Formats: sequence, structure tokens, C-alpha cells
Amino acid sequence: MANFNFANNSKFHHVKHPLIEHKLAILRDINTTTKQFMELAEEIAMLLTYEATKDLPLEEVTVETPLERAKCYMVSGKAVGIVPILRAGLGMVSGVQKLIPNAKVGHIGLYRDHDTHEPVEYYCKLPADAEQRTLIVVDPMLATGGSASDAITMIKKRGVTKIKLCCIVSAPEGVQKVLDDHPDVDVYVASLDRCLNENCYILPGLGDAGDRLFGTK
Ligand code: PRP
Ligand code: URA
Repeated sequence: MANFNFANNSKFHHVKHPLIEHKLAILRDINTTTKQFMELAEEIAMLLTYEATKDLPLEEVTVETPLERAKCYMVSGKAVGIVPILRAGLGMVSGVQKLIPNAKVGHIGLYRDHDTHEPVEYYCKLPADAEQRTLIVVDPMLATGGSASDAITMIKKRGVTKIKLCCIVSAPEGVQKVLDDHPDVDVYVASLDRCLNENCYILPGLGDAGDRLFGTK
């Protein structure tokens, strides 16, 4: 088995927090309902977004408080776009939007072929001004990394240079692939799990995120 070590890679961010651990435990539980699963995915997405937006540029503004003028700071320019990888990525969009309500949303359609486990592309629609924004690609699962890596390649082909990837559960193999294929992209995960099984599912993981989010199984 390959030996993975991302500790010294400044592009890999394992976001550790007691609230994330707690919510992850419930998310993984086979008895968690579709409604709870959707709510938890949204909440963890929000916590990941807090970390992933730490370096957004600020501009100085003047604000009238009830008492005096204050020098304040606001996020500058056309800041952020959110790009869920369909379909499970949709479960994270509302969490990012709660923190960044003005973010525009693009969509990338990819699914893993059941036999080859390779990603198959079927849709890509990004905001018209995507290349002026930092795009946060969201997908709950980073397994082999094929889907995320292909999604990032599709985005780069449209001229976007500032890209971040937020995933809830990751496997070392997937993290390594994205870091190798896209060394310029920051990767944020709530969990780095043990490995993939023979069907390229993450262990211990949480099963099929899309099916659990949308109740399709
Ligand atoms: C899942 C998941 C990721 C992908 C991860 O999607 O949401 O997009 O698999 O696997 P990878 O890292 O090996 O590419 P899936 O293909 O099941 O499609 P769905 O979201 O439509 O259910
Ligand atoms: N996609 C999922 O939804 N779950 C996994 O464990 C791997 C890929």
C-alpha cells in the first residue's frame, strides 16, 4: 500500500474542530435520516468555507456607526463562485451560501462509471465572470480523486485560475491525485479516511453520498 503523507504540503488543509468531528460521526451513521444528512452536509460545508475563505482579499470602507465613523474592511471585488459537482455537491451549496450569499453558482455534471470508476462528464455551466472569482468546488466525497481532478481541469479550461476544493470525506488516494494533478489548488477536507475498498468506496466513509442526500436508495 502506498505511503501517504500530506502533513508538509501547504495546499492540503485537514480542518479539525470538535464540531466537525461531532457532525461527521452522525453523518457517517447508517441510521441517520436523509433530512439529518442534508442538514449536516450543509453545516460541515459552512465550517469548511470558514477555513477556505481565510485569504480572501479585503478592501477598506468607511461605515457610520450610531456613534462615529469607523474604518472597516469588506471582501473586495467579485469574490467567490461556488461549483458543486453534481449531484452530491449540491448538498454543500447552501452551507457556502449561508456565509457568502452573493456567491454565484456554477454546476459541473460528472458521475463515476460503475464498472471503470472513471468520471464521465455530462454538464458544465459556470458564472459568466468566473475567471474574476475564486471558485470553490464542492463535493462531499474525494475517493479516487478522478471526479474532482477532472472538474478542476474543466474549470481551468474556461480561464479560471483561483480554485479551491472543499470535500467532507477524503481518501488518501484522492487527495494525492488532486495535489499531483493540480498543485496550485488548495484542498480542504473535514476528514482524511483510511483507504478505498475494491469498489473505490471510502473506508470507513459514509456510503454513497448522493443516495444518502437525496434518498435514492
Ligand atoms: C461521487 C461523489 C464524487 C465522486 C467521488 O459521485 O459525489 O463526485 O463519486 O469519487 P472519485 O473521487 O472516485 O471520482 P457519484 O459518481 O456517485 O455521482 P452522484 O453524485 O451523482 O451520486
Ligand atoms: N462516492 C461516494 O458517494 N462515496 C464513496 O465512498 C466514494 C465515492
